[in-house]
Amino acid sequence: MLQTMDNYDFKGKVTLVRIDVNVPVSTNGKIREHPRFESHAETIKELIKKKAKIVLISHQGRPGAKDFIDLKQHARLLSKYVGKKIVFVPDIRGEKAIKAIKGLRQGDVIMLDNIRKDPYEMLEKSPEEHAKSPLIQTLAYYGNLFVLDAFSVSHRSHATVVGFYHILPCIAGRAMEKAVTYLDEIKKHAVPPNIFVLGGGKPDDVFALMEYMMPKGEMDAVLSCGVPGELFLMAQGYELGKKTFKKHEEGGWMQYLERAEKLYGRFGDKIRTPVDLAISVRGRRKEISLTELPTNYMIMDIGTRTYKRYAKEINNAGTVVVKGPAGIYENKGFEVGTRELLKAAANTAGHSFIGGGNTIEALKMLKFNIKQFNYVCMGGGALVHYLSGRELPGLRILYAR
Ligand code: 3PG
Repeated sequence: MLQTMDNYDFKGKVTLVRIDVNVPVSTNGKIREHPRFESHAETIKELIKKKAKIVLISHQGRPGAKDFIDLKQHARLLSKYVGKKIVFVPDIRGEKAIKAIKGLRQGDVIMLDNIRKDPYEMLEKSPEEHAKSPLIQTLAYYGNLFVLDAFSVSHRSHATVVGFYHILPCIAGRAMEKAVTYLDEIKKHAVPPNIFVLGGGKPDDVFALMEYMMPKGEMDAVLSCGVPGELFLMAQGYELGKKTFKKHEEGGWMQYLERAEKLYGRFGDKIRTPVDLAISVRGRRKEISLTELPTNYMIMDIGTRTYKRYAKEINNAGTVVVKGPAGIYENKGFEVGTRELLKAAANTAGHSFIGGGNTIEALKMLKFNIKQFNYVCMGGGALVHYLSGRELPGLRILYAR
């Protein structure tokens, strides 16, 4: 049985709460508003009411990436949703962090720094192995309970996702509880054909999912767009042009081309790729066909013919999963592909699952209502892991032993 917050007494207990406020960061370094804040606020408010001493743990970005920043802004923004000041502590397990944890009074909330600054966090290890790390040892020493509220990281066997399993009681937060209950329900009703719209900027997640599901015949069609779509075009021998190539090099995505080639070689009949694209000519949208490649301009979105074709397949889906936007939706004129695919998912007679940090932001920016879809999940990678039937390490720790 899932361990929920109903079964525990939090009064006076140092409660380590793993949330996920990993959100898009604008070029000026400012984080953007995101539904992830609101989703965790409910758990935090309840813990405050129950007089817990709350230590929030989250990550932002991945080391080396431009959005890998500290969590000072996040603490400020989250305070707004919680209705109480959340103190940012620029430390994880050093003197400052320990002092702040020891100084907590009932109902206080602090937020530690970006947990991925700690070298032990991102290692994919078992709970037993993580439990021995100085990161988990230190935090567990000062903590009494562990609440995992971030479904969106539950597919990672990272230290602060699974590491407290054998040391502290591990409890599902309210956002996590809702995600699990709802997904269980939806999964029972998922029907073929299963159409996956896979875009965004995390091709590693997308390819892992395809490598797992395609050989089992669990994907009837993949409508590729965003970075995966571009990689599949390259896999077919298209040259995209210098600017887009540079974007791929900077994003560290060229390393996935070989996987794209293999997948396309084996399952090309099920992988749809863009038939036209939108480029940015001095900031304005211009559509080109594939015969016009390579282009000197940056590819920013899929073109009209592509989204119309994709929309038709989405309309006929039994189940449609959208993970990752079709293009750079935050730039005016290049949100079109993302908007049209989401519109198709909203209107399909089949079940619609939407997931992923950027996709959720796009939903909000493009003024969709989450009620237009069967399920909107704060996590993209976690959602696709779950739907593909794989065990989520973060979920496993939340069931009674
Ligand atoms: C997400 O945005 O999907 C989660 O925060 C997980 O991020 P990650 O893919 O960098 O682990």
